[in-house]
Amino acid sequence: MDYVRLLAPLDGFRQAVLDFRAEGGKGLNVTVPFKLEAFALVDCLSSRAQRAGAVNTLIFHSDGRIEGDNTDGFGLVRDLRHHNVTLANVDILLLGAGGAVRGVLTPLLAEHPAHLVIANRTAGRAVQLAQDFAGLRDPNTCLRGCSYADLSGQSFDLIINATSASLSGELPPLPDNLLKPGGVAYDMAYGKEPTTFQRWAKAHGAAKALDGFGMLLEQAAESFYLWRGIRPDTQALRINMR
Ligand code: ATR
Repeated sequence: MDYVRLLAPLDGFRQAVLDFRAEGGKGLNVTVPFKLEAFALVDCLSSRAQRAGAVNTLIFHSDGRIEGDNTDGFGLVRDLRHHNVTLANVDILLLGAGGAVRGVLTPLLAEHPAHLVIANRTAGRAVQLAQDFAGLRDPNTCLRGCSYADLSGQSFDLIINATSASLSGELPPLPDNLLKPGGVAYDMAYGKEPTTFQRWAKAHGAAKALDGFGMLLEQAAESFYLWRGIRPDTQALRINMR
C-alpha cells in the first residue's frame, strides 16, 4: 500500500479527489483547507462527521459512493489517553471556535468533563458552538462559550489550543494563572520545535505541554482502520516516527 501526499490546487479539490479515485486510490485523508469542501463533496457521512461538520477521511466504496468520516476527535482523545490525561470530571478549556474545535467537541463531551469552556477571539462563534452542542453534553457537564477576556480569574486542568494562531507562531491573549497546578496543555499543532503555545504553557507551570503529533498519528491510524479493517499498532509508530 502507498500512502503519499497529494497537493490539490485550491480551486481543484473535487477534481483531485475524482482523479485519485480513477487512478485506483482507495481513500484519502484530507487536511487544511479542504475539510469543509470534503464535507460538501461526499455522498454519505458518518454520524461523527455529520456532527463535526467537517471531513478528514474519504472512503471510496465499490458501488461508487464516497463516504466522509472524521477521525480527528477520536485521534485527540486517544492521544490524551495515551498521555494519561484525565478527562472525566475535570475543567477543560478549548481555544478557538473553528472547524478544528467543532471536530473534537463530540468526543470530548463523551468523556464527561465537569466544565468545557470554548474561548475565541470572535466570542460569538464560541457561544454559538456551545449552543450547537448543548444537546450532546451530559447534565453534569457545563458547556459554554466566551471571549479570551472572560477567562480572567478562571483556571483549568486541561487547555487545548485549536486556533490556527499557532501555525503563524501567534498566541491568543491568555491571562496568567489559567492553568491549575498540575495542569496539562495540548497544542493541536506540531512541529520540529515546541510551538509558541507549548512554550507559553511551560512558562506558566504546565505539568505537561504536548503537541498534536500524537493526534495526527491516531487520526491516521483510525482512518487506516476504516479503509483496511486493521488497527495499526500506534505504540510502535510513536517510537519510530519521532
Ligand atoms: P480550523 O479549521 O483550523 O479550526 P478556522 O475554522 O479558520 O480553522 O478557525 C481558526 C480559528 O483560529 C478561529 O477560532 C480563529 O478565531 P476567529 O474565529 O476569531 O477568527 C482562531 N485564530 C486564528 N488566528 C488567531 C489569532 N492570531 N489569535 C487568536 N485566534 C486566532
